[in-house]
Amino acid sequence: CGIVGYVGGRSALDVVLAGLQRLEYRGYDSAGAAVLADGGIAAARKAGKLANLQKELAERPLPTGQAGIGHTRWATHGGPTDGNAHPHLDNAGRVAVVHNGIIENFAALRTELTARGHELTSETDTETVAHLLAESFSSCGDLAEAMRQVCRRLEGAFTLVAMHADDPGTVVGARRNSPLVVGVGGGDGDGEYFLASDVAAFIDHTRDAVELGQNQVVELRRGGGITVTDFEGAPADVRTFHVDWDASAAEKSGYASFMLKEIAEQPKAVADTLLGRIDSSGLLTLDEVRIPVSVLREVDKVVIVACGTAYHSGMIAKYAIEHWTRIPCEMELASEFRYRDPILDARTLVVAVSQSGETMDTLMAVRHAREQGAHVLAICNTNGSTIPRESDAVLYTHAGPEVAVASTKAFLTQLVACYLVALYLGQVRGTKWGDEIGDVVRELSEISTQVEDVLDTMEPVRELARGLAGEAGMNTVLFLGRHVGYPVALEGALKLKELAYMHAEGFAAGELKHGPIALIEKGLPVVVVVPSPRGRSVLHGKIVSNIQEIRARGARTLVIAERGDTAVVPYADHLVEIPATPTLLQPLVATVPLQVFACELATARGNEVDQPRNLAKSVTVE
Ligand code: G6P
Repeated sequence: CGIVGYVGGRSALDVVLAGLQRLEYRGYDSAGAAVLADGGIAAARKAGKLANLQKELAERPLPTGQAGIGHTRWATHGGPTDGNAHPHLDNAGRVAVVHNGIIENFAALRTELTARGHELTSETDTETVAHLLAESFSSCGDLAEAMRQVCRRLEGAFTLVAMHADDPGTVVGARRNSPLVVGVGGGDGDGEYFLASDVAAFIDHTRDAVELGQNQVVELRRGGGITVTDFEGAPADVRTFHVDWDASAAEKSGYASFMLKEIAEQPKAVADTLLGRIDSSGLLTLDEVRIPVSVLREVDKVVIVACGTAYHSGMIAKYAIEHWTRIPCEMELASEFRYRDPILDARTLVVAVSQSGETMDTLMAVRHAREQGAHVLAICNTNGSTIPRESDAVLYTHAGPEVAVASTKAFLTQLVACYLVALYLGQVRGTKWGDEIGDVVRELSEISTQVEDVLDTMEPVRELARGLAGEAGMNTVLFLGRHVGYPVALEGALKLKELAYMHAEGFAAGELKHGPIALIEKGLPVVVVVPSPRGRSVLHGKIVSNIQEIRARGARTLVIAERGDTAVVPYADHLVEIPATPTLLQPLVATVPLQVFACELATARGNEVDQPRNLAKSVTVE
């Protein structure tokens, strides 16, 4: 979910709605806003996307107020209805609250409140908080103190933002686990303050931000500044930071969708992520990795944890790390990791990959790893987010803000960061530093040009996607790959599921004969990612055989192969050529056509590629 709060001299509703627009990637099952005006609270809530709320407000405007809160929801407790939409109010309508996360003891709290005569009308866990806040406020008369009292009673993960009609000019926030940042603006001289799940919500107004830590409560008071305490009321240290990108980075700049813009930005994202990390002699200078070299030399196992697209980047990293460093490497879904009691100790390096730095599954894996004494290195795209803060070190990817829900440019930069980590481990451990690694570093520094080259030759892919989109009954596409082409196949399938809502599956091509080949029937499109015919030529030969096997059974083959790979030509119904790269780097160029394919097919089917149904970009619940 996305949360916004504002207090200052502007129309709070305008600020809140503009903020919600920027946060809609975090969930779009419903939206709502509330303002403090005329001694009371006025609120509007609507199921569906923010546009529905905006329409409702155009028909039934709220009065103008100078403090307000808003929410865009990714449903957890209770369906995506008007009634379950936030903000939630108490029975007297004096308190309004928005929430991100899950309050695990809400059933007990609800029973308790009902017994005391409260009437709860929604199915959400959030509504209990509005009622508890109203009770606490009536006894202590201070909203921040009421928030602290309530937080001490809540179990689970939550971010809350609330206001009270009897304390106008104040907005209060609380944070445990899920993200919340404060924006500090100059306003009309009296100061204005913002609260949001992500700085994108207030970047139009200020780039000065304050990071809230775990279990902290913040009070924003117009003319009175901000006060941060822990849940017990003790003053807390806060870290201020300046956001280094501006509003234009979070806009579409003429592209039809954020997804198209972000796909096009990949060469730059890749180059930016490499910038300053390879010195003139071809050595890596990862100053950010503040895990002592002596510790890295002792590492005897690497475990990578991540979710979704980031998981696929980690799968590729496993091939690179084991090949270049000879350290055993495991890849694990973050959501599975801590529940299977993994074997970790001080010689284990856990690498957590996350675009947002807020994915709860990954965060929990990080915490578990550190509790077991492992060292944790985060690969992350969001400065100041929770996962890097709780890790021993962080290597930031420089993709810039990624807005489209399905990840593209962040994925490519995660790959680059994973390669850097693998090569760096090889470097500090003095692994046989053969020609191969030196060559790879050189090729890596040129890879952004090759990504650009791929983007320049995508028209046939788009045409193919449009053709398939129009075919009646075309609802399945399979993806095959081997070695690092296997995770690429999985990522291609994931993109198609996310964007086109089609049945898409990725397989390791060698597994085809052990089951999936039964799915092949006449006309079924199968995308095959072919490794370079140089380098691992044994693999190449095997996959060419796989293409023949599926074609003999009627599949339509869409082959992605290195330019000049003549062996695949006779078996490719459609051939997409990509530039030659070292085998391990091929995912950087091979993934791009699959992103373009999914985006174009989904667009041709009329889907909203930036906000696919049921998804959210940053999933801050487990
Ligand atoms: C969500 C998004 C995916 C993303 C995954 C991990 O499920 O919809 O696109 O890959 O989270 O996100 P992270 O921010 O941790 O990389």
